[in-house]
Amino acid sequence: MSTDAREPEPQDPGETLREPARDASEVRAWHEDNRRGWNQGAVRYTEGRERTLERLRAGESNVHPVERANLADLGPLGQWCRTAIHLQCASGLDTLSLLIEGAQRVVGVDISDVHVDNARWIAAQLGGDATFHRCDVLDTPHDLDGTADLVYTGRGALNWLADLDAWAAVVARLLVPGGVVHVLDDHPFTWLVDQRDGRLVMTGFDYHRAAVSSRGWSAEYIGDLGLGPDALAWMHERVWTIADVVNALVGAGLRLERLGEHSEQYWDNLSGVAEDERRRLPMTFSLLARMPA
Ligand SMILES: C[S@@+](CC[C@H](N)C(=O)[O-])C[C@H]1O[C@@H](n2cnc3c(N)ncnc32)[C@H](O)[C@@H]1O
Repeated sequence: MSTDAREPEPQDPGETLREPARDASEVRAWHEDNRRGWNQGAVRYTEGRERTLERLRAGESNVHPVERANLADLGPLGQWCRTAIHLQCASGLDTLSLLIEGAQRVVGVDISDVHVDNARWIAAQLGGDATFHRCDVLDTPHDLDGTADLVYTGRGALNWLADLDAWAAVVARLLVPGGVVHVLDDHPFTWLVDQRDGRLVMTGFDYHRAAVSSRGWSAEYIGDLGLGPDALAWMHERVWTIADVVNALVGAGLRLERLGEHSEQYWDNLSGVAEDERRRLPMTFSLLARMPA
């Protein structure tokens, strides 16, 4: 593997390594900054929402094969999932895909005003039992407590949260007894490496304790929004280790049933690195945990 593990990648000038959030007020301040950032980035989803609607109308589910395989082991979704709550649902593509997969009712929660407007617009055209709440995931409405057969999240979600124990407590209060949470997200390893001229290079992040503030978006995802650097919102991310995620859920009272580490991706991360090299790396992880009955 053409990996240069000795030289850390010079830090992107739009990116600053920092200490994790110190207290609840800093957690909330970071989340509010992220709301501003996502209201900017979600414009790309607004541009694509007609296409998203067409895909959903054609019955094309965006649920990932890893998610489908994990959930299928619990039986057809239509048989056990009356309510699925999607935390950090963006513009609702994955949320509404859960209806196609068989969930009877879906609820999406997202902090971005633009994303939730998009999700409500798509859901209104599509029909079906779908509602969307615009709020910090930590403020998910209490009238949803004890209603979710499935809490579904991931694909670029947990890194935006500054307090994972608080997140896990929300997951726990939403689930019915015996209900499950499913997560598929970037493997924390992927934060440690970047690409340069087709080679992997170390980023200099601390696996055990990395937080980063940044402005702007990767070319593979949202790309250039045409805003000057000063107009771009600062956003804050945290690298959560696999142990952080598992321990947060176990600490909230859930039982881990399955943990997977996968070479499968859900976005074109490290696209300049040869496919056969990427396939040897843990690009994503998945987990299924259950609230005891
Ligand atoms: C990468 S996106 C999720 C992607 C999603 N799986 C998709 O592509 O449809 C991350 C989402 O998390 C949301 N988000 C970030 N921080 C949040 C918070 N504190 N509470 C709720 N949503 C949040 C953002 O608005 C954004 O929609």
